Amino acid sequence: MYRTHTCGELRLSDAGKTVTLSGWVQRTRDLGGMTFVDLRDRYGITQLTFNTESDAVLRETARSLGREFVVQVAGTVMERQSKNANMPTGEVEIFCSAITVLNSAKTPPFTIEEETDGGDELRMKYRYLDLRRAIVRKNFELRHRMAIEVRNYLSAQNFLEVETPVLIKSTPEGARDFVVPSRMNQGEFYALPQSPQTFKQLLMVAGFDRYFQLVKCFRDEDLRADRQPEFTQIDCEMAFVEREDILHAFEGLAKHLFKSILGKDFSEPFLRMSYDEAMRDYGCDKPDLRFGMRFESLTAPVDLVRGKGFKVFDDAELVVGINAEGCANWSRKQTDALIDFVKRPQIGATGIVFVKWTAEGVKSTVDKFYAPEQLQQWAAYFGMKQGDLLCIMAGGTDKVRKQLNELRLHLGDLLGLRDPKVFKPLWVVDFPLLEQDVESGRWHAMHHPFTSPIPEHTHLLESDPGTVKANAYDLVINGTEIGGGSIRIHDRSMQEAMFRVLGFTDEEARYKFGFLLDAFEYGAPPHGGAAFGFDRWVALFGGRSDIREFIAFPKNNAGRDVMIDAPSRIDEIQLKELGITVK
Ligand code: AMO
Repeated sequence: MYRTHTCGELRLSDAGKTVTLSGWVQRTRDLGGMTFVDLRDRYGITQLTFNTESDAVLRETARSLGREFVVQVAGTVMERQSKNANMPTGEVEIFCSAITVLNSAKTPPFTIEEETDGGDELRMKYRYLDLRRAIVRKNFELRHRMAIEVRNYLSAQNFLEVETPVLIKSTPEGARDFVVPSRMNQGEFYALPQSPQTFKQLLMVAGFDRYFQLVKCFRDEDLRADRQPEFTQIDCEMAFVEREDILHAFEGLAKHLFKSILGKDFSEPFLRMSYDEAMRDYGCDKPDLRFGMRFESLTAPVDLVRGKGFKVFDDAELVVGINAEGCANWSRKQTDALIDFVKRPQIGATGIVFVKWTAEGVKSTVDKFYAPEQLQQWAAYFGMKQGDLLCIMAGGTDKVRKQLNELRLHLGDLLGLRDPKVFKPLWVVDFPLLEQDVESGRWHAMHHPFTSPIPEHTHLLESDPGTVKANAYDLVINGTEIGGGSIRIHDRSMQEAMFRVLGFTDEEARYKFGFLLDAFEYGAPPHGGAAFGFDRWVALFGGRSDIREFIAFPKNNAGRDVMIDAPSRIDEIQLKELGITVK
């Protein structure tokens, strides 16, 4: 038997017991004829003591231990003289009578402690060492607890977990597919699912009524902190439902997770906001509502800025601003830094007009165009008080909204208004069904092509696609899109119309989605669903923005697993078997 106890469980009440422990050497130190070793395992750290004066063998072994050696010790639990209140086992130590080195270890490339000296790349290359750190392991304990709560909750609501295939035909979710060549069908490829979208719909046609799955999805897209090429969804679908039923079901899931994982009660229904409102008031479809700084337009409904000779405002489609409360005393250096921030190529703005209200009155960077009364008018419009700073930007509507959204979030960070312990969930609803590519003029599904228009707009699908709203919804928490879904089209002719609007010929639609169109002719019930980004949700609850911290073996930003060195070349024989030549 390797152990009688773990390294996290012995307490003062165990004093006098003879125990055996196994684990990793966190550190060793010699002190006045004694050697102390911190022994670590998944459950904690226990201090071992060796009387190195009385036992020469024990002395030699204890002194030879390096960091991360794997050892087994036997000894007696004793009350510690200098107790450590910061450790759950801090009142005891094991007075060891025997030690066996189970395996030695090379000096790790970074120290395995709370704070590590390993950079990201090194941590990922030796991820199995990084995962030994308690701070990292806790993320996986959180992930595990959340997965269990999701399964328990949905199962209690009659959802059935069903696995769907991984080698499939492309499902359009807006990214590129990862493809897998088929040896048995040379020249043909499987796609890895961007989501199980069509399968879950087919399960509704099959009468499964309520489906869910914690499922890996694969998307070949540009990576960011909240995106991985393979990630996990809580994927769900329900039959005989309207939008309200779905929002109710998954608001229930979200509230259950808040309560069971974080102990937070959300008694009120989640806020609902239309896509148009979100874009108008926050410049994005996933607003962070932990703080204010709502957008106010200075050009509509009332035009307070044009016609005074300031060309930037005169020529702009939209002049829009936010009120940074209490920032009027910011230095020139600080406001210049804001301008530099919005001028960065990723944001691409030309500048910011500032209006500050100090003890000397309201002053702006455009005083030569606007009289004090006009500035007062703006101030009143924003509900500005003495001490506040307005940041105003101008340009084309879509562009300037995006840019001001970036500035708002940046100010939120600078002012400490985005507290990771505060949660502001909302549903964003009534998205446009389609968006048009400016260059090609082609329509694209904003969610995916299986999303139904809202009932009042179904007749406009082919005649006026741009005005059609989707029966779709997103769950947004703290500026992160946690999930999204829609009521689906369940009627063959409407699905065919949708494919036509998206520019598919009948033949293409049949080639790609014939199985779904066929299924719709065998009694498809009305249905809808949603999918939630599980990694994102765990990261949010863990107070971090980088989902990689919650994925055991993630990919880096170039899509590589630097530990196993993938992707990698395959040998000639494999290529030949697959009938593939690599140029
Ligand atoms: P959608 O594409 O919105 O919907 O995806 C659902 C949720 O999955 C998360 N997500 C990601 N997380 C990490 N890395 C990624 N690359 C990534 N891409 C998406 C997001 C997102 O909200 N089939 C539909 C759902 C439906 O209609 O039922 C779908 O997949 O949190």
